Amino acid sequence: MSFDRSIKIAPSILAADFANFGAEVQAVEAQGADWIHIDVMDGHFVPNLTFGPPMVKALRRHVKTVMDVHLMIAPVDAYIDAYADAGADVLTAHVEAGPHIHRTLQAIRGAGMKAGVALNPGTPAASVAHVLDLCDLICVMTVNPGFGGQSFIDMSAKIAELRSMIGDREIHIEIDGGVDVGTAPLVAQAGADVLVAGSAVFRGGSVDDPAPYGENIRAIRAAAG
Ligand code: DX5
Ligand code: ZN
Repeated sequence: MSFDRSIKIAPSILAADFANFGAEVQAVEAQGADWIHIDVMDGHFVPNLTFGPPMVKALRRHVKTVMDVHLMIAPVDAYIDAYADAGADVLTAHVEAGPHIHRTLQAIRGAGMKAGVALNPGTPAASVAHVLDLCDLICVMTVNPGFGGQSFIDMSAKIAELRSMIGDREIHIEIDGGVDVGTAPLVAQAGADVLVAGSAVFRGGSVDDPAPYGENIRAIRAAAG
């Protein structure tokens, strides 16, 4: 995975057909997805439960781009090797998930994956100031995590603050939650390069009629400029 700061659209499969993930991943990649965003939820760190390592491993053979795994779980460390074995390219842990984010990021890289850290809307940018050299990605949540289809919470100031803290380090800024053609310009302008979008990509399409996926991806990319 070479470093590229151009805009990347990462559809979140949380908005896809849960009975058809493999076909949905193939369809949305064929329609122009740059990364595939996989939302792992444990029903403890967030009030929702999705899937774990076996599902991610089963999806690996369908993902031809980048498997971007977002862990909304606590604790994290005990599961890192399982996601490495599952084939995750990027593994993102929440800074709020435990007291040892420095060690968690070291362990993610140690397991051979790119390391991401996610910040909930109420968490300050300063919370990652001392782990920037252990990060390949910072995920700025623009919704309170747990569900797709929520309203966007403007985090432009935090994104710009992170952009300036990062300097010329090769760290992606990912935006997650409520991204659509209306909000994409705001976050791109503030310095984000990976735009996660679930409902805004999967709306109106299906595995049998994937064309809307491509239209939605192109519209978000165009709006991001
Ligand atoms: C929320 C997840 C997001 C969500 C995005 O907890 O982390 O990735 O699926 O869905 P939309 O784009 O519909 O807000
Ligand atoms: Zn996510």
